[in-house]
Amino acid sequence: MTSHRRILLILGGGIAAYKTLELIRRLRESGCSICAVLTDAASQFVTPLSVASLTNEKIYQGLFDLTNETKIGHIQLSRDADLIVVAPATADLMAKMAAGLATDLATTLLLATDKPVLIAPAMNVRMWEHPATQRNLKQLKKDGVKIIGPNEGDMACGEFGLGRMAEPAEILKSIIVQFEKQNDRVTKLKSLDTKEHTKPLDGCRALVTAGPTWEPIDPVRYLTNRSSGKQGFAIARELVEAGANVVLVAGPVALNDPRGLKTVRVETAEQMLAACEHILPVDIAICAAAVSDWCASSQAINKLKKSSISSRQLELKENPDILKSISMKSKDRPKLVVGFAAETEDLIKNATEKRKAKGCDWMVANDVAPGTDAMGGNTNQVHLITSDGVEAWPQLPKTEVAHSLVTRIGHHLRARAASSPGKKQGGKRDR
Ligand code: C5P
Repeated sequence: MTSHRRILLILGGGIAAYKTLELIRRLRESGCSICAVLTDAASQFVTPLSVASLTNEKIYQGLFDLTNETKIGHIQLSRDADLIVVAPATADLMAKMAAGLATDLATTLLLATDKPVLIAPAMNVRMWEHPATQRNLKQLKKDGVKIIGPNEGDMACGEFGLGRMAEPAEILKSIIVQFEKQNDRVTKLKSLDTKEHTKPLDGCRALVTAGPTWEPIDPVRYLTNRSSGKQGFAIARELVEAGANVVLVAGPVALNDPRGLKTVRVETAEQMLAACEHILPVDIAICAAAVSDWCASSQAINKLKKSSISSRQLELKENPDILKSISMKSKDRPKLVVGFAAETEDLIKNATEKRKAKGCDWMVANDVAPGTDAMGGNTNQVHLITSDGVEAWPQLPKTEVAHSLVTRIGHHLRARAASSPGKKQGGKRDR
């Protein structure tokens, strides 16, 4: 009697193999049994012992593993499975599958099977975009292979783009879809799906500002700062991952629009404020933009001549404070307003005062003194300042800071909802 599903899981050789361990754990929790096969390269990334411990079954690596066992040949191994999952599916594995090669146990099983196959590609963005990989992908789709991912994001190699393996939760969901398609008993998996895949910020609207602003002086010159927008973009992407409906208002940055959200591009602080006003009301506002505090009092129509600025003085006026204006809203104020304070001295003192002066709920303080990586770099060392006090976070990649911040927001809003059930969104501020 088949009370549970059986999966033949093939691990290719990629850094993403560590995420496959989490997938195995989740599949086992859902009642699936797993037979794992590791390519030679895969065993360089995860140990056969950890895979065997998690599957609680013998794992297979080479063709000889099978020929020694008279009862189990490679045909049998693939026939025993309800579904074959390849995660991570490297460019090399995809190429071999598309060409129908059977050079090792993994590819032999993939060629010998008549069962549905789901692959989770993972590779460097250039390898993914290469015409050969795209050609192989097309062929595999034509052959009926199901594909999950890859996702866009930062890569282990330091680049950014498409090529990250789909998350274990996404692969699990795709497996459930496959089983549903097979129209069989999936009750157990389904209940797991509902339990674990309700995203923490489902149904929330979020606004994120990011990047610098450009404040024109004349048609060719402007005032700005060194902000890259990376931290704000990473937060926007994390909010999407957490299920929020996100609008990102971005100053001039060299970053592509993230997927799964709306990006509004602006140049000046005035335009950023207008865009934000248009997007409000929201549940969460995160002002990560390094808005220029000043702009030129008047913008010259023609390029200014050196001689036209007497005593080399430029007259400035203060820009509107977007964070403050959102925080101080009397009607439809977001449930949570988060600001960023970039300081070069007296970080905690200045950021704590800024939190009070601007009226936001949380202030993320970061040291941008020369020598730190915060402005323009990929890492950030922040302090989270709330009404409860100051928390020092370690130096982390900006993507990790974003992940921790969004996780924190999820917990905070859940606790808030639990403490005041039935309260309408966009109500009182969170202090
Ligand atoms: O005053 P300061 O620029 O240090 O404040 C930083 C915080 O205030 C950031 O969250 C930034 O996005 C926000 N800010 C703003 N509008 C301004 C200046 C800063 O929203 N004009």
